Amino acid sequence: MKKKIGNQNVLYPMPVTIVGTLVNGKVNFLNVAHVGILNAGAPHLISLGMGKRHHSNIGIREKKTFSVNILSQNQIVEADYVGLVTGSTTDKSGVFETFFGELKTAPLIQNCPVSMECRLHDINELKTHDVFIGEIMATYAEDAVLTGGKVDLSKVKPLLFDMSSMKYWSLGQPVGDCWNVGKQYKKS
Ligand SMILES: Cc1cc2nc3c(=O)[nH]c(=O)nc-3n(C[C@H](O)[C@H](O)[C@H](O)COP(=O)(O)O)c2cc1C
Repeated sequence: MKKKIGNQNVLYPMPVTIVGTLVNGKVNFLNVAHVGILNAGAPHLISLGMGKRHHSNIGIREKKTFSVNILSQNQIVEADYVGLVTGSTTDKSGVFETFFGELKTAPLIQNCPVSMECRLHDINELKTHDVFIGEIMATYAEDAVLTGGKVDLSKVKPLLFDMSSMKYWSLGQPVGDCWNVGKQYKKS
């Protein structure tokens, strides 16, 4: 029998993302795992749940752009670091090599597998959090993580985040084809 364990959010693991912003002219990064995909088609909208006190929020409001970068497991130290210290007191601009894409004000990480640059679409202001909704305007991927022009997770080796264990996790193996394996269902 199942045991009731309160109202815990068990929607983990989540992908670890590193969000890049330009705050008062300075590049800043923070770790954001509470991300969402709002739809699968165009416009490609994603959400970031970010505590109101974060320094990065100032830059998103100011420039109306941000980047979302996926790091590999071998970048775990840098990923955690930008989630430990705030740009309001620590300069995090040199943690990653950066470049600017077509939006010009969303710093993207050069040395990571995949990056997306987003234009701010909307802000949902909650009591403690800003939910930033962004539209993905361009996506950049290292050649080494592509298979047939598509991002290959087995090559990206993304970091995953789990709140209950407070640990970073890695991805396992694929276990079935979506929109396909269900065809094997037989009514019992
Ligand atoms: C693994 C991990 C995941 C995090 N996820 C989030 C998140 O989803 N939302 C959030 O507001 N802060 C999150 N944080 C905390 C921020 O990254 C952290 O407070 C950061 O220092 C804020 O940086 P800033 O003040 O320079 O913007 C996370 C931190 C870590 C280490």
